[in-house]
Amino acid sequence: MSTAQPLNVGLLGLGVVGSAVAAGLLEGRGNLAGDGARPLVLKRALVRDAKKKRPVRLPARTLTTDPSAVLDDPDIDIIVEVMGGEQPACDYIARAIRSGKHVVTANKEVLCKRGDELLPMAERHGVRLLHEASVGGGIPIIGPLSSDLLANRISSIRAIINGTTNYILTKMAREGASFDDVLREAQKLGYAEADPSADVEGWDAAYKIAVLARVAFGASVPLDRVYREGIVSLQAQEFRYAATLGYTIKLLAAARRAGDGLLVRVHPALIPSDVPMAKVDGVLNVVEVEGDLVGPLWFQGRGAGPQATASAVFGDLLRIARGAEIRPHARTGRRGDKVKLAPMANHECKYYFRLVCKDRPGVLARIAGVLGRSKISIASVIQMDADAEKGEADLVIMTHPSLERSVQRAMKEISELPVVARVAAVLRVEGY
Ligand SMILES: NC(=O)c1ccc[n+]([C@@H]2O[C@H](COP(=O)([O-])OP(=O)(O)OC[C@H]3O[C@@H](n4cnc5c(N)ncnc54)[C@H](OP(=O)(O)O)[C@@H]3O)[C@@H](O)[C@H]2O)c1
Repeated sequence: MSTAQPLNVGLLGLGVVGSAVAAGLLEGRGNLAGDGARPLVLKRALVRDAKKKRPVRLPARTLTTDPSAVLDDPDIDIIVEVMGGEQPACDYIARAIRSGKHVVTANKEVLCKRGDELLPMAERHGVRLLHEASVGGGIPIIGPLSSDLLANRISSIRAIINGTTNYILTKMAREGASFDDVLREAQKLGYAEADPSADVEGWDAAYKIAVLARVAFGASVPLDRVYREGIVSLQAQEFRYAATLGYTIKLLAAARRAGDGLLVRVHPALIPSDVPMAKVDGVLNVVEVEGDLVGPLWFQGRGAGPQATASAVFGDLLRIARGAEIRPHARTGRRGDKVKLAPMANHECKYYFRLVCKDRPGVLARIAGVLGRSKISIASVIQMDADAEKGEADLVIMTHPSLERSVQRAMKEISELPVVARVAAVLRVEGY
């Protein structure tokens, strides 16, 4: 048992993550930083509703509904923000920093939207703002990028960082079920929120990839500069056709140097079935990092859940207890260079198109004409299911690497052809 002066912890939030952190502190995980480190003690916990039943029993007078009882208590040294959302979390974090408290947070939204103010503010006040749990749940990724990999020039990060969508896509691929059916089931099982938009529209993954881009590339990435497409419009056919062609579909979050800029994007992508990323299923997350010295690295694990996320929060807490110097935003501070962001129009990859076409001669020639004029070269064309009653058929086209801007232009033109009933899917194929 350490004889060093304890560090008092104030929790903001005692929900899924906060309860697991409180339980960990009560069972002595705050003593694990090793010899000479200051032990961590839970002092107060802020909630909205003091009467709610909680999975953890706190000592008397720990729980409060008054933010000042935590934020203005001079005896509290570290604030753990596990409330979520942009506000009031942002104001509370800023208040804690200004009064000289270290902050540990799991909040990707606040880090993404307000990190550019909060991180330098922490630096100015000589405190830490650590956020390992904000991306990838229990997967250690901010720490390695901020310390172990500092000597590397990172060229690319590709990740599956939203467990809810990965669960839905895995089910759709395995069972041929529709998005709506799988979403309903995921909500019943507690894998998806009642309002699933943050997950299925790709916002959550966009927050996280923006946070990772700041740490890995020193880039300030406003949310509106993350290209974002969710999974809501994916149809069961795409999974079946993709499998026939040797692919599976994942919601990919990526940040990659492209020319002299950085392209940050979130969208569903066809992943070759034989690469490891295609096999990261269910609620698992993965982050693949490419550094110039180290080469490719692979971090896989539980991207959410109380215990796994508490593991990441404790990593940060114990770093502070040890006095170890880890600054997640060190790259921005050290290089001071502005990273330019590249537009999605510059993205180049192979594409998968599904066009619902009139089942009659000459269709392909009309489509190939548009693609040819747009400098999009066809790799294969397969006619899939046909609807004899409507006289329509699914035409699946795979292309050679093509520019996004050319593809968008060509798809607009193709959608207006009289032989095309509709452009049912345009999906990017991730290269490995
Ligand atoms: N859940 C995960 O697996 C996971 C994984 C990684 C990161 N995270 C991040 O961790 C954070 C917390 O997530 P969570 O799942 O633990 O959320 P949660 O279960 O909804 O818990 C939120 C907690 O914050 C309290 N709270 C919210 N707004 C408040 C306010 N204005 N004033 C006082 N208390 C307030 C709630 O109080 P009441 O209990 O009284 O309502 C609740 O205890 C989020 O940023 C989330 O993105 C979560």
